[in-house]
Amino acid sequence: MTLNKMGSPGRSGVVRKPNESMRLIVTTFIGIVFGFLIGVSFPAFTLTKLNLPSNLFPYVEDKNSGLSTQAFLNAWSTLKGNENNSSEAKNLNNTSKIWVPSNPRGAERLPPGIVAAKSDFYLRRLWGIPKEDITVKQKYLVTFTVGYKQKNNIDAAVKKVNFHSLTFTLSLSLSLSAPLNLFFLQFSENFTILLFHYDGRTTEWDEFEWSKRAIHVSARKQTKWWYAKRFLHPDIVAAYDYIFVWDEDLGVEHFNAEEYIKLVRKHGLEISQPGLEPNKGLTWQMTKRRGDREVHKFVEIMAPVFSREAWRCVWHLIQNDLVHGWGLDFALRRCVEPAHEKIGVVDAQWIDHQTVPSLGNEGEIVEGKAPWQGVRERCRREWKMFQDRVANAEKAYNKSIGIDLPKSTAS
Ligand SMILES: *[C@@H]1O[C@H](CO)[C@@H](O)[C@H](O)[C@H]1NC(C)=O
Ligand SMILES: *[C@@H]1O[C@H](CO)[C@@H](O)[C@H](O)[C@H]1NC(C)=O
Ligand SMILES: *[C@@H]1O[C@H](CO)[C@@H](O)[C@H](O)[C@H]1NC(C)=O
Ligand SMILES: *[C@@H]1O[C@H](CO)[C@@H](O)[C@H](O)[C@H]1NC(C)=O
Ligand SMILES: *[C@@H]1O[C@H](CO)[C@@H](O)[C@H](O)[C@H]1NC(C)=O
Ligand SMILES: *[C@@H]1O[C@H](CO)[C@@H](O)[C@H](O)[C@H]1NC(C)=O
Repeated sequence: MTLNKMGSPGRSGVVRKPNESMRLIVTTFIGIVFGFLIGVSFPAFTLTKLNLPSNLFPYVEDKNSGLSTQAFLNAWSTLKGNENNSSEAKNLNNTSKIWVPSNPRGAERLPPGIVAAKSDFYLRRLWGIPKEDITVKQKYLVTFTVGYKQKNNIDAAVKKVNFHSLTFTLSLSLSLSAPLNLFFLQFSENFTILLFHYDGRTTEWDEFEWSKRAIHVSARKQTKWWYAKRFLHPDIVAAYDYIFVWDEDLGVEHFNAEEYIKLVRKHGLEISQPGLEPNKGLTWQMTKRRGDREVHKFVEIMAPVFSREAWRCVWHLIQNDLVHGWGLDFALRRCVEPAHEKIGVVDAQWIDHQTVPSLGNEGEIVEGKAPWQGVRERCRREWKMFQDRVANAEKAYNKSIGIDLPKSTAS
């Protein structure tokens, strides 16, 4: 990637042609002399009072240099002694600069009409008319953090997938070893698929047809939450109603994504997860599927689905250095109100947790401990750190607004 200096707010880094520099010097000089004369003769003089038509100023704007009347005015205000709280300064601000406080922070100088504050992952063409690029505006984003090391498994599953999809209507229940491929049949053209590769292998996935329309992000040995923090900024994923932040080891035989979203909408769940098959893998009591109803309320963090609004908050909760996300699930309730109604498990659509060893084994041998041990220790440590941070932040906030709970009755 190349950095374009022209894009930076200060133009000073741009090399100017000699005659431009000459013009700048002349302009500045004229400006200084003019300003000096004005300053000397009318100490209380303001631009407003004079109300000069702007074409009286030597207007030297070059289309590329961005220099204009403003350079002149700046030079003039410099001469007036940098009184940035003076009425002159205020008027300068008002009359010669764009400053829109409601623009995104850092973009106040842009006319609001040109500000594109949000983005998406829609793929575009290199030719044709831009507004005709996108035929389906996908409303859902599904992300998986994946490794390719079970290539043979997955390859076999791809073949099974075709078979499976043919027989799906016959309700043949096949137990598949590599669920991921099945998945993508679930996720229709209404889903943007984003893969985070933790093993650096991306091109191999192109043997699957769906991979060609997916977005691939590769960074070695990072976790789901690391990627989510870096690549799923709320303004980047603003186009999507729902965002799936899923692990790779989930079986989706009993899962239908479109149906799932229907239920989530129906029940107004801002943060949700499919039920986890009770008989397989290790899951927490609260997240186990209950056969008797469509949804129940609570979530564990393995296959969460966030609404756009909830994600806007959750993204801010994710810590840059705490990558395993332990403890995060307990803090999610802070993002939705009332939490007990808007966080829930969708029992009617459920998934299997395959407990395929993945990133857990990607640690390193430290002090003779197995990699998985190191990872687990780090998980626990992060959990503690996260809880402490939340508690301290809350304490500091309470203190700042004057709620100072006594630590103990003794003090
Ligand atoms: C201008 O404002 C800034 C911050 O508001 C202040 O630090 C600076 O001292 C001011 N300069 C003058 C000349 O008043
Ligand atoms: C500029 O700020 C200084 C210090 O705050 C103040 O004394 C002075 O009156 C201000 N000048 C104007 C023109 O508002
Ligand atoms: C310009 O004015 C706006 C509001 O009028 C103010 O918020 C902003 O700080 C000013 N900018 C400068 C550079 O003085
Ligand atoms: C800028 O100038 C216009 C017209 O003189 C005035 O209506 C407006 O309130 C000014 N804005 C600021 C921020 O000073
Ligand atoms: C995609 O979304 C459209 C509009 O919401 C819907 O009509 C269509 O059935 C969806 N596609 C699939 C495969 O469900
Ligand atoms: C902060 O204040 C809230 C509301 O008063 C209270 O529920 C909470 O326990 C307080 N937290 C801490 C850490 O003191």
